[in-house]
Amino acid sequence: MRGRADRAWLGLSVALGLLLGAPKAQAEDDAVARGAYVFHAAGCLGCHTDVKNKGPALAGGRALKTPFGTFYGPNITPDPDHGIGSWSEAEFIRALREGRAPDGSHYFPAFPYPAFTGMSDQDMRDLWAYLRAQPAVAEPSRPHDLRFPFGWRFAVTFWKWLYFEPGPMAPEEAKSEAWNRGAYLVRALGHCGECHTPRDALGGLKTDMWLAGAQEGPEGGSVPNITPDSETGLGKWSKDDFLFLLQIGLTPSGDVVGGQMGEVVDNTTSKLTDQDRAAMVDYLRSLPPVQNKIEPKKTKK
Ligand code: HEC
Ligand code: HEC
Repeated sequence: MRGRADRAWLGLSVALGLLLGAPKAQAEDDAVARGAYVFHAAGCLGCHTDVKNKGPALAGGRALKTPFGTFYGPNITPDPDHGIGSWSEAEFIRALREGRAPDGSHYFPAFPYPAFTGMSDQDMRDLWAYLRAQPAVAEPSRPHDLRFPFGWRFAVTFWKWLYFEPGPMAPEEAKSEAWNRGAYLVRALGHCGECHTPRDALGGLKTDMWLAGAQEGPEGGSVPNITPDSETGLGKWSKDDFLFLLQIGLTPSGDVVGGQMGEVVDNTTSKLTDQDRAAMVDYLRSLPPVQNKIEPKKTKK
């Protein structure tokens, strides 16, 4: 039988446990909540979920058709065998920061780590906390279906040497805090340049034509010029025009953006705070205008 002393002891340990445990659990909950925001801002869901076939979230399978072949976003749920459940936080950060797998091999840049490398350590750690808190799904990832010679993973070493600069983005001192936040959201998290910047023959971004549109986008369709050029870009768009587009996907001419940009609006830009959307617009409207005429062309299905 339990005596009074026993009960008092139990009470004391519970109180102590709460006292010590609660702040830790709270800190973890906070990291998961912050990570959810990063997750949306970075659009991790779309490529890692087979939405078309109603696949489970983050269990992989979505087909990404590119000129180099078809990539399938792998399972990134916490399943230890088929997902990334056996990874350490450091391995996760290395994947995003350096585009390297735990075994040291290089990821194909169809995984937009050339943009994600700019993320802050804090955002990466929060994102990790969020992913760890998602349900595990025991479903194997689908192998990529790449055209010769693009299936050669080691060729990525050369590609990275040409085009890849790892490291978190440093703020530009001469610019406002809002502008820097916008630059971070567009360039690192939102990876807008992965679609809106044209590429050269080896698939490297033409950085001198930053966000000036691509005649051949990632899935074959065209991607518009979103620099402030008044003839071929968005020079005539007001601040509100941009805000409407990012929040509800409506263009000034009354069209609703579809396809890939529809996904970006649904999964990403509509889920941000008003303040963050405004910061993105600040940044976008400050870009050097680049004249580059894009003829609209639909994505091949
Ligand atoms: C544009 C599509 C796309 C987006 C957006 C994307 N990924 Fe991926 N991701 C991929 C592809 C494709 C691969 C496989 C790369 C390879 O095999 O070399 C991959 C690989 C990974 C891997 C390695 C998995 C493994 O098993 O080795 C991790 C981890 C990962 N992504 C996490 C993320 C996170 C976190 C985000 C959001 C910050 C994200 N991805 C956004 C396409 C994407
Ligand atoms: C996966 C590829 C992809 C990504 C990533 C992407 N976009 Fe787009 N974007 C498109 C396509 C394709 C269109 C054209 C959509 C249409 O006309 O229906 C578009 C249209 C737009 C437009 C409207 C331009 C016009 O002339 O009507 C704006 C503004 C825009 N994107 C901004 C962004 C921003 C900001 C980001 C980053 C948060 C982003 N996009 C990320 C593919 C992408």
